[in-house]
Amino acid sequence: MLKVDITVVGSLNMDIVAVVDHVPQAGETVKTPHAHLYTGGKGANQAIAAARHGARVRMVGAVGADAFATTLRAVLQSSGGDVSGLVEKRGPSGMALITVESDGQNRIVVCEGANRMLTPRDVERACSASPWPPGSALVVQNEIPMETVRHALDVAHRRGWRVIWNVAPVVPVEAGLLGEGDVIVVNESEASELVGMDVADIETGRMACERLLKLGPGMAIVTLGAAGSIAVSSAWGIMSTPAYQVVPVDTTAAGDTFLGVFAADWDGVTSPERSLQIASAAAAVCVTRQGAQDSIPTREDVISFLK
Ligand code: ADP
Ligand code: NA
Repeated sequence: MLKVDITVVGSLNMDIVAVVDHVPQAGETVKTPHAHLYTGGKGANQAIAAARHGARVRMVGAVGADAFATTLRAVLQSSGGDVSGLVEKRGPSGMALITVESDGQNRIVVCEGANRMLTPRDVERACSASPWPPGSALVVQNEIPMETVRHALDVAHRRGWRVIWNVAPVVPVEAGLLGEGDVIVVNESEASELVGMDVADIETGRMACERLLKLGPGMAIVTLGAAGSIAVSSAWGIMSTPAYQVVPVDTTAAGDTFLGVFAADWDGVTSPERSLQIASAAAAVCVTRQGAQDSIPTREDVISFLK
């Protein structure tokens, strides 16, 4: 199998999760014995998914001057990722403070921390330190400043890398910018927001993909949770990929696993259909496991799932 070279430009977060009976009112303190510390961030999740699938992965991102930085770096490294493109910024690493109530309701405060300090210059430096060859891939999301996203797209074009852009969270971008992505990937709610229609199944997903294609990318992919995914490409037409039927335990990082594995598996030249299936299998393994980055499978895990 061809080894894909991937530069991921994106976020790294520490997720601090407290499971509570009820969330505190103003001035109230609640206690809980149930807390978890997870490494996350779409960028780091996707980098780990791609690295565990066997791609050569370099992560470009920012961590803070704190103890979390060490952990964020270590998890990436132990998955085989190259961390030489991580820069350290003053202040805290990115964090997400999450409460989960007994009825399953989530409340999330995102502290962007170092992620919001990742600059175009950081990207430029990391990418010219070891200039990867044409035919590589750039994987990028929207959890870093838009000017940095734009610069990453620019670097990719200059170097002849294909761009896989997870347009999440959805932020306003100038018309035409989405055309800078060779592949645009969104989930159903992001798709709904982007194209201004209710996306809830394969049929509405296909319509959303077609609208997205009009904005210029070569391919659009909409993921639909347990309903699978739909992709439309000017070169390969409509590709519907069912989800594998599994008993879901924790869907955290499913979308990031899908994207990272897709990016790692697809050579950018041949039909992406098989890689979409492999991505779907990897995401299915992820949802059967508790946790976030811990639940992202290796290539071997995916192969044995498919046997
Ligand atoms: P996100 O996490 O970004 O919202 P999705 O929920 O759409 O992403 O999930 C991404 C992919 O993960 C889906 O296209 C599907 O292949 C897989 N997946 C998600 N949930 C399930 C599930 N319950 N069972 C099997 N596969 C799933
Ligand atoms: Na999981």
